[in-house]
This record gives sequence, C-alpha cells and structure tokens, in this order.
Amino acid sequence: MVDKTGIGGRCVAERGQYFGRHRHLFINTLICSRSSCYVHEMADSVHPALPHLFEILKIIEGGVNLDRTRVRAFSEQLATKLEAEGDSRTADRLRRVIASARTRDLSPARLSPADRLPVDSESRLALADEAVIAPGEAEVVLGAEPDSIVQEFLRFVQSADKLTRHGVGIAPSMLIYGPPGCGKTELGRFVAQQLGLPLLIGRTDSLISSFLGSTAKNLRALFEHASSRPCVLFLDEFDAVAKVRDDQHEVGELKRVVVSLLQNIDALDNKTILLAATNHEHLLDLAVWRRFAFKVHLERPDASTRARLLSRFLGAFASDELVDAMAQVAEGLTGAEIRQVCEGAKRAAILADSDQVNQGDALRRVLRLRSPSTMDSHKPLSERLKQARALAPDALTYRRLAEAFDVSLGHVSNLLRDGGSH
Ligand SMILES: Nc1ncnc2c1ncn2[C@@H]1O[C@H](COP(=O)(O)OP(=O)(O)OP(=O)(O)O)[C@@H](O)[C@H]1O
Ligand SMILES: [Mg+2]
Repeated sequence: MVDKTGIGGRCVAERGQYFGRHRHLFINTLICSRSSCYVHEMADSVHPALPHLFEILKIIEGGVNLDRTRVRAFSEQLATKLEAEGDSRTADRLRRVIASARTRDLSPARLSPADRLPVDSESRLALADEAVIAPGEAEVVLGAEPDSIVQEFLRFVQSADKLTRHGVGIAPSMLIYGPPGCGKTELGRFVAQQLGLPLLIGRTDSLISSFLGSTAKNLRALFEHASSRPCVLFLDEFDAVAKVRDDQHEVGELKRVVVSLLQNIDALDNKTILLAATNHEHLLDLAVWRRFAFKVHLERPDASTRARLLSRFLGAFASDELVDAMAQVAEGLTGAEIRQVCEGAKRAAILADSDQVNQGDALRRVLRLRSPSTMDSHKPLSERLKQARALAPDALTYRRLAEAFDVSLGHVSNLLRDGGSH
C-alpha cells in the first residue's frame, strides 16, 4: 500500500495518534523528497511478539536521524501505553532514560563541531562511539580487591575538587586488565553510569590507520574531542595503540603512536576521565602503564563472585541451593561464560513454560564449558560420572549427577560405587 500524501512529516504523527486510539498498528516509512512525502503502510494489526512495534520503530527512526523531539515524543507515548497496561515500572525506567539524556537538541543542524564525533580522514569512519548508560543498565560483579579499587576510584573522582584544594588531586585514570570475558568493558560502562557522564568508546579499528602518521593524528583528534566536554573516554583493546616501543616488528610508526599517546594523556585535564582496557597487559609500554593512577585486575571470578554472578543472571529462576552448586561446578569459567550458561538455562525454562531452570539442564551447561569431555557421549558413562564428580564432589551429589546425566539415581550409585563395571 502506498499513500502519496504530499503533506510532509506531520502526517506520520497524526496517523500514529489516530491508529494508536484505534489499537491498530501501522508501520509508516516516510520517504520525503523536496516536494512530496510517501507513506508506506506495512502492517495493520498489532504485532504479536512486539505489541509496541510502532513506537519502537519511531524511536529508532528518531535515533538514527538524530531527531531528539521524535525520540522524546514516541518514548512518552510508549511510556503512557505501558502505564495504561499496568507496567509502570518499565514506563518509569523509560522516562528516566529520556530524562537522563543530555538536554541539548541533537538534530544535526544544531550540533556544534564539538558534538560531532571525530572521523578518520581516509576512511571517514568515526573514531569513537558515544553512549549514555542509563541507571541500572550496567552492573559489574567484582571480587573484594577489584571492587575496593573501583569504589576508591569513583570516590576520588567524585571528590576531585576537594582533593585538588588540598594539593592531593589525582589524574582520574584507570587501567583495567585481565582475561577476555571478565567484565572489563562492562566495568567501563558501569563507571560512566556511576559518574553520570557520557561514555566515549574509542574505536580501535578506525583509530589505527594504515596511512603513515594518521594514527597519531586520530589519537589527537579523539583526545581533543574528549577534552571538549565532561565525559569518560574509554580506550578498549588498548594494547593495539599502547604496545611496547621496542617491538622488533613494528618500529617507527608504533613508536610515534606511543609517544603521541603519552603526550595526549599528559595533556588531559582532570575533568576528562580516562579508562583503558586490555587483555594483554604484558604488551603495554611501561611508560603508558605508569600513566594510570589506578590499575584494576579483573580475573576469572572466585567461588563467591561466581555465586553472585549466577544469582544476578538467574534471578528468581533458581534456588539458592542450585546457585551454590552451580558456583562450585563453574570453577574457572569467566563472567561471560556464566552469563551464557544462565541465559541458555533461562531460555530453556521459558520455552518449557517453567519459572525455574531445570537443575540437570543448568548443571549440564556448566559441565559442558568447564569440562567438555564429561559430556562426550562416546566415552563410557562411568568414566564421565567419575570425572564430573571429581570436579566438585560436594556439589555434584549422586542425585545431581543423575539429573545432569539424565539417568536414574540407582544407576549412578552402581556405577560410582563398584568402580564402573556397568
Ligand atoms: N564481572 C562481571 N560482572 C558482570 N557481568 C560480567 C562480568 N564479567 C563478564 N560479565 C558479562 O559478560 C559479558 C562480557 O563481558 P565484557 O565484555 O565486559 O568482558 P571483557 O573483559 O571486556 O572481554 P574482552 O576482553 O573479550 O573484551 C558482559 O555482557 C557482561 O554482562
Ligand atoms: Mg571488552
């Protein structure tokens, strides 16, 4: 269906209101040329899986066109609908997100040069992505040591003026390092959220230019952009730009990049919060390493941190006993793997119309990641059971093993008691 209205953008809003009142949904794609406006109506009933698809599409459309007014208007419309349907919690959350956004108008014509993200002059790709992390959107679960470092960092940054007045001001910079999947990026998001500042994430792919000299230029442009307003500058995958200068294979350009990085870090004022994250801390140039006032090592979670991660990701879908058992079996898993286990188990529960994850299924998912050979059906069951039990004898009782391996309790006890002759 194509409706050539020729009356400009207002028609969409009017149709939205009209069809909103009549509980119908029209997806309108507006293609405006200088003199005409075409509205494509692609659906005329409420989408079964996404009942508010109309508003969602309008908000996305407003976002990609940097049209703040449209984002606001349709978010408010969505919040009102959710409220009317009894979901005032989501409605409040939506309103908080909108209220927490910066108050400036983001329509392209009104963006000042300082608001536009810098781009690589060759590829024209943006050197950073910007995000505003709404309250509650990012949450990290950390062990005692990293948690106290992060809390101190936040306290120092929030009291920067007081510390400076007493002559003990601090460069607000933190280096986050550790193996993949342990929450480094999530911690960057969490810090920005806690400080209520926009997060500017440097894009390594566009920062590193294949053209001689351009990487240093890009770094300068990014740091200058970050210094132009309060924000958290987050250099993720930091080793790509901060590698040791005596690397035999990459001399010359790399040296210039590191020198430029050091100069940029030194030139930052205390209003720009600098975060950097890497999996390869041993590759970092020592001078770069020293520039960071705070360093936090995120390792694979210990038993109590695993239990907190499991509780967070499983919520009401699992009992405390199951969480404790899973935490013991999940030794060595990263936070990202624990999240993967929990989301898989929750999806299976939801599809089975249950509000609790299945214990056997959840333990199987953990075992598959912790020790894939225990789930290898080509190996004798007795061997797999023994191997699994040895991983966490307290948590993997005969009963839980029976559920995880989907066999009877009697069979498990026979196989484990008599040394596996069955
Ligand atoms: N300590 C943690 N607290 C909360 N969530 C975590 C934690 N560790 C991992 N996660 C979850 O795992 C996912 C991956 O984490 P994240 O991207 O922060 O890891 P990373 O350390 O940055 O990994 P990489 O080195 O691969 O970039 C996130 O979506 C996050 O939800
Ligand atoms: Mg990361």
